[in-house]
Amino acid sequence: MNTRFRRAAFAVAASAMAVSLAACGSAKESGDKTKPSGSAVKGDAITVGLLLPENQTARYEKFDQPLIEAKVKELTGGKGKVVYANAKQDATTQNSQVDTMITNKVNVLIVDAVDSKAIAGSIKKAKDAGIPVVAYDRLAEGPIDAYTSFDNEEVGKVQGKALLEALGDKAKSGDIVMMNGSVTDPNAALFKKGAHSELDGKVTVGKEYDTKEWKPENANANMEAAISALGKDKIVGVYSANDGMAGGIITALKSAGVNPLPPVTGQDAELAGVQRIVAGDQFMSVYKPYAPEATAAAEMAVALAKGEKLDSVAKSTVDSPTTKAVPSVLVPVVSLTKDNIKDTVVKDGVYTVAEICAGKYADACAKLGLK
Ligand code: BGC
Repeated sequence: MNTRFRRAAFAVAASAMAVSLAACGSAKESGDKTKPSGSAVKGDAITVGLLLPENQTARYEKFDQPLIEAKVKELTGGKGKVVYANAKQDATTQNSQVDTMITNKVNVLIVDAVDSKAIAGSIKKAKDAGIPVVAYDRLAEGPIDAYTSFDNEEVGKVQGKALLEALGDKAKSGDIVMMNGSVTDPNAALFKKGAHSELDGKVTVGKEYDTKEWKPENANANMEAAISALGKDKIVGVYSANDGMAGGIITALKSAGVNPLPPVTGQDAELAGVQRIVAGDQFMSVYKPYAPEATAAAEMAVALAKGEKLDSVAKSTVDSPTTKAVPSVLVPVVSLTKDNIKDTVVKDGVYTVAEICAGKYADACAKLGLK
């Protein structure tokens, strides 16, 4: 992982750091023979099992995984480690990945579920084996101990509001297409709910899809179908739940010869998404700072593995369909448009201007004054 990102991770996590520093302090004293032997050393030699749902969306292996690994290292004075598995969108694979981690006796799990219901049995198995579980980003069902994410209904609202703003007085002059995420992901339902709460009554939804497995190629195929059903000149805007799908949607619009492109939303502030915003192909994304989310997950996981309380990290609670009052950390989100690239992803060290403005994006960046 690069140092620039690590710096950003530390900066945003400053407040939560007091707790971690305290933990590090006790770790360093573990060699003290006057203390009960073993406990602190054992406490720091933690193995965290990290399970992420897919790798077609850039965030998981570019940000979430390296950020969590770095934070676990830092919190355990270099003694802790992360074993990582990616389910590549397959819920059955993810269940066996949990089984393997239970067999290998990891001390704690951080799970971003492919399917929030299908994972519940595996979470129960982990708990029965004495392994606490932190649900990451998606609220997994079953007896989880902690949760960290963003306010996901708010993400949908931010997207819906931005689309309305882009449409202005043209909001009802044609159809909008809504491309939601996967039905197995509870976040997708929240994004959809938030977006509808802003858009309903103010736009005409001509076609709406729940996109299988969040796949950009499925969004591309759905968009092609929407274009033939509605007519390419009738589509005034597209709600896309994330940047990966926005890429597939914009390709479909371009291949159909739609010009100018209607406003298209997104989420994740992926580099490709930010570059499409610079180029004027995508209207917005939602910037979700991954560092505080990853930091909270690592802190809660390490605390749980050591049998410590979560009060100092988790200030709120959420209810899942199966489990009430789960200690939680929800990180705020920001709407990202061409006007605030510098104040968000560049400022937080997620990307440099040079990365965003590389190659064919140089001219568009210059026009935006991004340097
Ligand atoms: C995450 C998004 C991501 C999507 C597809 C959601 O649960 O919150 O950031 O784009 O899954 O993986």
